[in-house]
Amino acid sequence: MKKILFVASEAVPFIKTGGLADVVGSLPKCFDKEYFDVRVMIPKYLCIKEQWRNGMQYVNHFYMDYLGQSRYVGILQYVYEGVTFYFIDNESYFCGDKPYGDWYNDLEKFAFFSKAALSALPVIGFRPDVVHCHDWQTGLIPVHLKDKFHDGEFFASMKSVITIHNLKFQGVWDVKTIQRLSGLPDYYFTPDKLEAYKDGNMLKGGIVFADAITTVSNTYAEEIKMPFYGEGLDGLMRARSNSLRGIVNGIDYDDFNPETDRHIVQPYNAKNFRKEKIKNKAALQEELGLQRDDHKFMIGIVSRLTDQKGLDLIQCVMDEICTEDVQLVVLGTGDEKYENMFRHYDWKYNDRVSALIYYSEPMSHKIYAACDAFLMPSLFEPCGLSQLMALRYGTVPIVRETGGLKDTVEPYNEYEGRGTGFSFTNYNAHEMLNSIRYAKHVYYEKKREWNKIIDRAMAQDFSWHTSAMKYQELYDWLIGY
Ligand code: ADP
Ligand code: GLC
Repeated sequence: MKKILFVASEAVPFIKTGGLADVVGSLPKCFDKEYFDVRVMIPKYLCIKEQWRNGMQYVNHFYMDYLGQSRYVGILQYVYEGVTFYFIDNESYFCGDKPYGDWYNDLEKFAFFSKAALSALPVIGFRPDVVHCHDWQTGLIPVHLKDKFHDGEFFASMKSVITIHNLKFQGVWDVKTIQRLSGLPDYYFTPDKLEAYKDGNMLKGGIVFADAITTVSNTYAEEIKMPFYGEGLDGLMRARSNSLRGIVNGIDYDDFNPETDRHIVQPYNAKNFRKEKIKNKAALQEELGLQRDDHKFMIGIVSRLTDQKGLDLIQCVMDEICTEDVQLVVLGTGDEKYENMFRHYDWKYNDRVSALIYYSEPMSHKIYAACDAFLMPSLFEPCGLSQLMALRYGTVPIVRETGGLKDTVEPYNEYEGRGTGFSFTNYNAHEMLNSIRYAKHVYYEKKREWNKIIDRAMAQDFSWHTSAMKYQELYDWLIGY
């Protein structure tokens, strides 16, 4: 039995701020249980809902030297759908109403977490063959594994993988601070290791020292070798390109299933969507006070409201979008400028635009089910899960051709009768608008063609099956058989 440990900062169903949580929570149960024992470790945040916290079982605790003090590390566990989740407890670090706060405190929080996660392993008696790290929060783990953790028998030959879900965030501060927080010797703070542009960089440490690097789509794996997407680390990505591969994300096909979804008014499937899906649109129009009209072209957005998601393109042509024959439903939180922008248009075009500035899992499902199209014009997108959810619900994605969006949405080709969505290449508001207009044209004028796009979209398979096999192959290769 090969043992794998996922270490990350979030995982569904316990705590989620974005797609990282979906991946870390849903991928582990998709491995072949006969050969792989995959467990997950995340912090025990105080903001994890009580429903989950009450179900956690105490496993053990110990004290760990960190920043000159002896610090409490509690270990709890929760077995969910056959997967063991461990939680690292320390209330002074993992308090607050959100998993992330200000940059500086987050650096210390996750440097502590990374060290505690490794230190906890001998205590619980779980010796993974591979530690699979995710994003900058766990970037120090591969470094520790090469450093003194390696001295003992327990950690010897333990391999590490780091998956880059978003290269934009790297865990950067001045060298002195990162060195102090990591407890690593001077040796590591040179430009070929944890130093980058004279600062200390935790993700860079992970990328340099991990035995393998993955990211969440093939296109993003290529893009990050170039300056535009490389966030200053493109040179490193090129240097490590032999150890880097793209493995596209999947989604949980049980949680996201229009046939069994408890959050939606009218279940439907690939056979009956023509008659049934529309009932979800009617219900959402009713619920949100939009004009009741079965045939109105309804566009959905479910997103973190940040620059990454291409919202400035939308802002640029929002009046054009809204004055045409459409309804727009936006669910998201994030940068105030975008929250207020959507609130403004909700006020201005009250019967056509609905801005839902909050986080809600049930509402997101209602939007995936109700809308005709799903808009995601990202500036960059390592993978993107929302467009996969949209495809699963027969809601046609309109995307920019970048990262995972390019790999998962095939552009509609009316001559060959192919394609599962609409896409545009350049980061340009009017190119986006043209794609929206083209989609709308097909929807209003060529309904049969539109429905065939939905047929093809719903026939896609973005469950974890194929990608889980690729991770298994990677683990096998690392372990050496
Ligand atoms: P990212 O991880 O960059 O935010 P992804 O597309 O990979 O983008 O994943 C986003 C996930 O978060 C999806 O599951 C999406 O449905 C969900 N999501 C984003 N914003 C909200 C919100 N306001 N309410 C509910 N779910 C949301
Ligand atoms: C990041 C990326 C997103 C990806 C997700 C899960 O949040 O922004 O594109 O789908 O991680 O890998």
